[in-house]
Amino acid sequence: MKAEGGWGVVNTAFSSIHPTSDNDSYPYAALWDEDDIRANRLMTEAVHEHGALAGVELWVGGGMVTNFGTRLAPLGLRNRPQTDYTVLHPGQARQIDREDIRNIRKWHRDAALRAVDAGFDIVYVYATHGYLLSEFMDPVNNTRSDEYGGSLANRIRLVRELIEETKDAVGHKCAVATRFSVGLEDAESYDAFAMLAELPDLWDLVVPDYGVEMGASRFVKEASFTDEIARAKRLTTKPVVAVGRFTSPDTMAQVLRQGGQDLIGAARPSIADPFLPNKIDQGRSDEIRECIGCNICYAHDSLGVPLRCTQNPTMGEEWRQGWHPEKVVPSRKPEKVLVVGAGPAGLEAARVLGERGHSVILAEASRELGGRINCESRLPGMREWGRVRDWRVGQIGKLANVEVYPESPLEAHDVFDLGVSHVIAGPLVPAGPAIR
Ligand SMILES: Cc1cc2nc3c(=O)[nH]c(=O)nc-3n(C[C@H](O)[C@H](O)[C@H](O)COP(=O)(O)O)c2cc1C
Ligand code: SF4
Repeated sequence: MKAEGGWGVVNTAFSSIHPTSDNDSYPYAALWDEDDIRANRLMTEAVHEHGALAGVELWVGGGMVTNFGTRLAPLGLRNRPQTDYTVLHPGQARQIDREDIRNIRKWHRDAALRAVDAGFDIVYVYATHGYLLSEFMDPVNNTRSDEYGGSLANRIRLVRELIEETKDAVGHKCAVATRFSVGLEDAESYDAFAMLAELPDLWDLVVPDYGVEMGASRFVKEASFTDEIARAKRLTTKPVVAVGRFTSPDTMAQVLRQGGQDLIGAARPSIADPFLPNKIDQGRSDEIRECIGCNICYAHDSLGVPLRCTQNPTMGEEWRQGWHPEKVVPSRKPEKVLVVGAGPAGLEAARVLGERGHSVILAEASRELGGRINCESRLPGMREWGRVRDWRVGQIGKLANVEVYPESPLEAHDVFDLGVSHVIAGPLVPAGPAIR
């Protein structure tokens, strides 16, 4: 869907290179063996069909994973319970030895070769987010006394080797990117970056705090860490892509014009609106369904279930239900429909029914459309949540067949009097003190 929507590159999330990196019960991709090539090719072919490039993020789990699925010992830097305190059933990592490191390098190379067979155009070395390569770079975690521990040059050795070996294996066929974190409180991250600066073909930079990188909008605003990225960008001649919950074309243009990064990356904005790039391209920026930074998508990812999105209800249902974020199938039999209540669900129902060609009456008891969003978006830092209401009100305003009636509480007899063939009502909430 994202490729169809105009994104230049569509990337997998983390993709395991070997059964010793297993993140069950979370969903993840894998390139463990030849059989996995077929499954990954389904993605690359679908992406290529729309003229986009496909990227794959090769992943080595390290001491953070539990390997519930494969039951193999996780390979970490230390013999100790795994480090992710959010996991309810901690496992025990085994300290890797030199043979393990040699194996990891071979597995990474083999996975990169499989990635090319599967049709990927960009192969990643994934050196952040607390996984094995981050463990190596962390001076507290890395207590090794060999050539992989101690000095910074030693602690980044495995990252360097993986970039160089991936380039050697597949660099003539595809680009090699590295995801890496710089900035915030980590001054050494720039020294590490500078030592690797010219090795990959593309840098994908984030900051070394996941809570900031993908913070909720209440606390972290759009383009919050562009200064951190720009500082690294000055240390390399290679192109830099970075995220920052970019939803505004003006902000994107400003960041690019200032030269702080070369490409705009997006996870959540592309979930909320897979067609964001096409809308910019076609001068339809006002139609962008902007991410509100609620992190409901990530909450569901963390439950190990398909993603869902507050702004884009088609997310995760494209294949199962055939839902499309932009194309609404016209109804073969347009009818008269009453939607009672203009909260987020009522607004969305009225919008989609209207786009399908039904005659829609949207009745709302209060003066304002938006329901609960009107309360939520007035809380400190929560203004962006108002986008749920504003985007839908804007879209409905373009539909001549949707009539909106605020300040119209309905009794049962009013509903009958309207003579509609369908009534859509949300849960009936008993009248009580309103939160203002
Ligand atoms: C549902 C979800 C899953 C993610 N999974 C990964 C992942 O597997 N690997 C990774 O490097 N980043 C992952 N991220 C982080 C994003 O790549 C991105 O860095 C982060 O969301 C901030 O970018 P944004 O503001 O454009 O969302 C994930 C983000 C989301 C929302
Ligand atoms: S659920 Fe949707 S709107 Fe909320 S943060 Fe995720 S992508 Fe953005």
